[in-house]
Amino acid sequence: MRVVISIGGSVLAPDLDARRVEGHASVVETLARDGCEIGAVVGGGGVARDYIGAARDLGANEVQLDQIGIDVTRINARLLIAALGSQVDPKVAHDYEDAGDAIRRGDISVMGGVMPGQTTDAVAAALAEYVDADLLVYATSVDGVFSADPKTDSDATKFEEMTAAELVGVIGDIEMNAGSSAPVDLLAAKLIERAKMRTIVLDGTDPDRITPAVLRGEHTGTDIIPEGGDEPTYWAP
Ligand code: UTP
Repeated sequence: MRVVISIGGSVLAPDLDARRVEGHASVVETLARDGCEIGAVVGGGGVARDYIGAARDLGANEVQLDQIGIDVTRINARLLIAALGSQVDPKVAHDYEDAGDAIRRGDISVMGGVMPGQTTDAVAAALAEYVDADLLVYATSVDGVFSADPKTDSDATKFEEMTAAELVGVIGDIEMNAGSSAPVDLLAAKLIERAKMRTIVLDGTDPDRITPAVLRGEHTGTDIIPEGGDEPTYWAP
């Protein structure tokens, strides 16, 4: 089974805590031992936001700000690589071909950002499509996809499952509301829809929640099920 795991920067490194990074690495290693081929995509989190804020005050333009964000995601990727054992490609993959090559060789591949104008949510969806993954998992700081941003709307309700087209609609509505943030961004949602990619969005602040989700489809977040898609055969009892 081939899986792409997106680990948000605020989940992997809200602060610099080696034990937390180790926890995520240990989950990735367990899955690899269980026979999963893994691509991991790491976000920038608060550190990226701090650098981007400072550079904006200094007059950097949006592309320069994105490049700073990409650099931070790649530093976080290096942290995860440092915590992974010998099965990981020691290079941060800078494009999908490098990541795909590493995964085909049997290595775990770790990526950060790729190019300005997007976030690592979209990188994870594109990598999942490129390597024809069976499953894409977003380990975020919220437990799934809600009808609105639960941080700003107390009436927000969680979807246990939804189609990719529904995901695109919900994310589009959330992104229209200033100050609201969605668990995955709109470009990622559209890539998931295009690729018909089976996807899970879950709370990854405790990395141990990722293992049962990948191996057995067990989690309390949201399943995004492609139209006409069957449950992955590897989840069969
Ligand atoms: P993240 O993927 O962490 O963005 O990339 P985010 O969604 O803002 O962070 P979280 O999920 O809320 O923690 C950090 C920044 O790096 C740049 C963007 O500026 C992004 O905001 N970036 C990342 C790119 O420009 N291109 C990429 O491919 C990835």
